[in-house]
Amino acid sequence: MGNVIVNQGIIIGVAVIAAVAIVILLLLIRMYRKRNLSITRFLMAILEKRDRNMDGHSTHTQLLIIELYDTLPFDKKLRLNREHLKYAALLHDIGKLGVPSEILDKPGKLTEEEWKLMRRHPEIAVELLKPVGLFDPILKWILYHHERMDGSGYYGLKGKEIPLASRMLAIVDTFSAVTVGKSYRPARPYEDGIATLRLVAGAQLDPELVELFCAIPKHRIENCMQNLAEEMTHLERRI
Ligand SMILES: [Fe+2]
Repeated sequence: MGNVIVNQGIIIGVAVIAAVAIVILLLLIRMYRKRNLSITRFLMAILEKRDRNMDGHSTHTQLLIIELYDTLPFDKKLRLNREHLKYAALLHDIGKLGVPSEILDKPGKLTEEEWKLMRRHPEIAVELLKPVGLFDPILKWILYHHERMDGSGYYGLKGKEIPLASRMLAIVDTFSAVTVGKSYRPARPYEDGIATLRLVAGAQLDPELVELFCAIPKHRIENCMQNLAEEMTHLERRI
């Protein structure tokens, strides 16, 4: 009887220690991921200083894509890794490093030659990220973030040929481009962003994903903008 109690005590003790170890491990993984993400955000904020119309765009798309991910049906969620999505959103325009700042900052329309250079930014991103090795799962997502459902994007992929994550990136990229203020116009409200998405759903953006995005409660999307403002103030102090 005494032995049984001792054995039970040992089993409970081992279980408690194992549970504590697992919790500590999970916390460490979380801390490590958070730190990596904030380093990437910091680096992208420095890069965005080259283009005054990109300020905060990467972080904004990262916050928005997670909102969209959270509304996906279970079968679609299974096809994606939430952490990978964050990095894809943060880094999707890193290839603009290879585009001259005169083109990025040009107030008027771009010439055909300038557009050719601008259209290279997804492949420049892949060239930059590939040697790192860590980003292999997201290279295709980034490469195809300017594809359109009707096949008129940079590489001519159509509909479901475009990776799911790239279709999601295209939506949050468009919404962020409309709602974040630019040097040549002030920020536009949530409603304008939603109206733009609905206008181009079908030909340009995946209509099913657009509807999922539009169904996200407005306050959640607006929170992304508020969190962005806080994050940018924090980053500004570090740059
Ligand atoms: Fe882009």
